[in-house]
Formats: sequence, structure tokens, C-alpha cells
Amino acid sequence: MAVIAIFSPKGGVGKSTMAVNLAWCSATISNKRTLLWELDPQRGAAYLLGEDEPLGKQAFSIFSKDRSAKSLITATEVEGLDLLPADNSIIELDSYFSQLGKKRRLAKIAEELQSEYQIIILDCPPVMNEVARQIMRAADLIIVPLSPSPLARRSLDLVRLELSRIVKAHAAILPVFSMIDRRRSLHRDACAAQPDWPIIPMSSAIEQVAVRRAPIGAFQRSCPASVAFMNLWKGIEAKLKTLA
Ligand SMILES: Nc1ncnc2c1ncn2[C@@H]1O[C@H](COP(=O)(O)OP(=O)(O)OP(=O)(O)O)[C@@H](O)[C@H]1O
Ligand SMILES: [Mg+2]
Repeated sequence: MAVIAIFSPKGGVGKSTMAVNLAWCSATISNKRTLLWELDPQRGAAYLLGEDEPLGKQAFSIFSKDRSAKSLITATEVEGLDLLPADNSIIELDSYFSQLGKKRRLAKIAEELQSEYQIIILDCPPVMNEVARQIMRAADLIIVPLSPSPLARRSLDLVRLELSRIVKAHAAILPVFSMIDRRRSLHRDACAAQPDWPIIPMSSAIEQVAVRRAPIGAFQRSCPASVAFMNLWKGIEAKLKTLA
């Protein structure tokens, strides 16, 4: 089992879009039993998967151990892909984790799901706080989507710094260029400077994910943007093998 966090303290960089599309790749291309765990009360991932609004405020209760994670998991339209949805109740998570002595509560819950899932993908909120630290302790791989701006680079530096401060975190970091427009020289130059970082293009087909509320592979499987997610997924699988 591998836990992959799609994480950046910077908002709007494409985390939820990437999480949903990588989860689709994991379930559909690799036939892995996959869980998309939504840790952001904005509920972007669930929205993109076309899921209904949750019935109650229950997501917090798995962290306080009043409810099992399994009891909140639902199947999605994508075969092999389940969702552990968020709701407004997890807004309280940061203050709860700050008071809780257990720094690996989130990691332990992920470990408990190990028997059910081969891949767990975390759609993370744009924060750098105790929730972020719990995520970093749980992750095997942290994917950091970033735009090609110097400011985005600072968010990557912050992730690296925080991870280095966390005792016993074992995660590797993979930066991924997000929303790249090769017509722009700044974007081309940024990609040329980091030839090892995977690239997801700026694409109207990817924008359609939020309109159709389905992963791109479900409606435009062979378009270049969809292939870019599949190639990213293959790279992630190769990276996970080196970490095992
Ligand atoms: N590669 C892309 N090409 C075009 N548009 C994209 C791409 N990736 C994401 N978007 C769009 O950018 C916006 C932000 O994407 P998304 O919600 O995935 O970011 P996020 O990092 O999860 O945001 P937040 O930090 O608020 O959770 C959305 O409107 C999404 O449709
Ligand atoms: Mg998001």
C-alpha cells in the first residue's frame, strides 16, 4: 500500500484536479484498489467526481475515533475507486490536532485501511499547519503541483523545509509543473530549468473536468492532457518502486 499526498500550501494550483485524475489512472489503468481521501472541507475532489453533498457532519469523527473510516467510505462511478469524503466538520481538525498528543493519528488511520486499498491518494487543503504535518507523516510520496512562477517555487521550498523538520517522516517529494502553457516563454524556461519534473499542460479539456464532474479519462481518454496524467501516473508508480 502506498499513500500519495497531493499537497501544496498554495491554493488553486491544481491539487484536487490532479488527485481525481491520478486516482482514476490508479484504478483504471493500473487496476489498483484505490481510495481518494478528501482532507479539504472545500470538497473539490468529491465535486469533481460528481458526488452528492454529504448527509451529515461526520468526517471529523474518524479522527476523534467515534466512527471508523470504513463506515464513511463510498463507491464512486469509477470502478475500483472509492471516496472517503470530507465535510465542514474537518474545519476543526487543525485545532484538534494541535491539542492531540498523537502526531500520527492520520497515518494510523491510513495504515488501518491498508488491507482494503493498494493506493490511497490524499486531496489536501492549501495549508501549512498541523493537518499538513499529519499528512506529511502519513505520506510515502508528496506530489507538489506548482505553476512556473517564482512564488510557486517558494511553496515547494516551504514543503521541503517543513518535511525536513518532521521527525520520522519518510516521504519523498515529487514536484510537478501544473497548468503549463508552452506558448509562454516563462513557462518554457521554467520547464527547461527542471527537465526531471513532470508536466501537466494548461488545457481546456482539463477545465472540463470541473464542468462534466468526471475524470478526463472518462470522457477524453486519448487527448494530450489525459495522456499527460497517465504518463505522470506511470512516473509515480516507477518512483514508488524505488521507495519500496
Ligand atoms: N491543467 C489544468 N488546465 C486548466 N485548468 C486547470 C488545470 N488544473 C486545474 N485547473 C483549473 O484550475 C482551478 C483550480 O484547480 P483545483 O481546484 O484543482 O486546484 P486546488 O489546488 O485543488 O485548489 P485549492 O487550493 O483551492 O484546493 C480549477 O478551476 C480547475 O478546473
Ligand atoms: Mg483543492
